[in-house]
Amino acid sequence: MMTKEDYLKEYDQHQKMRENVREDKYRLKYHLMPPTGFLNDPNGLCQKDGVYHIYFQYTPFDCGWGTKLWGHYTTRDMIHFCEEEPFLYPDTIMDRDGVYSGSAFIKDNIIHYFYTGNVKLCDRDDYDYIQEGREQNTIHFTSKDGYEISKKELILSNNDYPADMSKHVRDPKIFEKDGYYYMALGARSRDDQGCVLLYRSVDLQHFEYYNRLMLPDYGYMWECPDLFELDGQLFLMTCPQGLKQQGHNFANVYQTGYFPVDYDFINNTYTLGDFKELDRGFDIYAPQSFLDEKGRRIQYGWMGLPDTDYDNQPTIEHDWQHALTMPKVLTYRHHQIYQQPLEEMKQLRESKIQSNCHHIQQTDTICYEMKIEFTKNQDFNLEIRQDVHLTYQDALLTLSLGESGRGRTSRSVDIQEISDITIFSDTSSLEIFINDGQEVFTTRLYSSSFHQRVQFLTDNEGQVTFYPLKSYDITKK
Ligand code: FRU
Repeated sequence: MMTKEDYLKEYDQHQKMRENVREDKYRLKYHLMPPTGFLNDPNGLCQKDGVYHIYFQYTPFDCGWGTKLWGHYTTRDMIHFCEEEPFLYPDTIMDRDGVYSGSAFIKDNIIHYFYTGNVKLCDRDDYDYIQEGREQNTIHFTSKDGYEISKKELILSNNDYPADMSKHVRDPKIFEKDGYYYMALGARSRDDQGCVLLYRSVDLQHFEYYNRLMLPDYGYMWECPDLFELDGQLFLMTCPQGLKQQGHNFANVYQTGYFPVDYDFINNTYTLGDFKELDRGFDIYAPQSFLDEKGRRIQYGWMGLPDTDYDNQPTIEHDWQHALTMPKVLTYRHHQIYQQPLEEMKQLRESKIQSNCHHIQQTDTICYEMKIEFTKNQDFNLEIRQDVHLTYQDALLTLSLGESGRGRTSRSVDIQEISDITIFSDTSSLEIFINDGQEVFTTRLYSSSFHQRVQFLTDNEGQVTFYPLKSYDITKK
């Protein structure tokens, strides 16, 4: 078990890792990445007394899949960040093999946290750790300020989950509706049906099984559920594993997307609408959203995926792997979720350079925001970097990467019309927003040179606005 004291002792010995990270040219300038080691899911996102708390799954001393802590960044303005000490450690018998993903919910000025304590039993050597051999403990604790925490309390354990569940039940997230608190838990049944279990509570402490959200044969496991409303429409965002690729859809190893949900909470019946992929790129998983003090629904995702067949990532040599996506605001428009960069990102703009599609004026920077507004719907071939192209032909939009993709080749989406494209380029990532966030492509990439030009290889009509972007300001506590 790694306690805070162990961690602090080891941490001093890891200054070398920090230096190695600092020297990496692929280190991101305006994305949250692990100070050292491996980052995965965003966790416990919330804003309390003006301060945003961004926690994340974290193995500080290991660039691969190790025992998880919760890392912690804070910010007041989404531009200046503080790297805090890790927030949560696997230091009890309920969570000794990892403080797995979880969430925060603020009620009466108190932050309630819920997460999964992962325990792998080692009293036998024939466990498969799916059907048997694992405890998935749902644990609750509180905090007034996002730093100091109360005692961890076990609120649900294996015996509290339906008997037909495997030992994969995790990632609690709270949704409040009409005086009840609903907890969504990602789950895999014994016969490999993915689903989301719903538990209900009136006091955020005692939870009763309520229902399960599922579709027959829709993957074997649904991870990281997020239930929320946008403009009165309920959505279930989740990450199904085990969906087969269908044409251009479901091309990644695991999926990330959402169902509109029609829930009758009086009769406890529901229907799930069609599943839509959140992002059409190569690196997106485990997104989590929260309401900030301005009432915006902000979402971060893991800009990465587990179990990919991409080649070894070059950042590993520099003692880190993966990052969070940019923060995005979710809205409900035209029967779907739209994603937009957080307004605050505009503060990173250094200057504004305008031109047209024929001659894109830009500076020699790899960190930029670029908006292209077309005057008409037209096919195009846009070279974003030397071996990175965004092409639109016959109503199919394709992002293709060459060697810099390290095994990431191409991803496509059918789209009838394109009016605008916004590209956020960081040293080793791209986030591409189509039609004001109707579709998004998120990817990591590792260009050998940062001297790159953006240009249309076709004759296109439209206006281009280019903004070189500054770095985040990140200090360490
Ligand atoms: C998703 C996930 C979660 C789990 C966590 C462990 O990436 O597997 O289901 O809680 O990561 O780090």
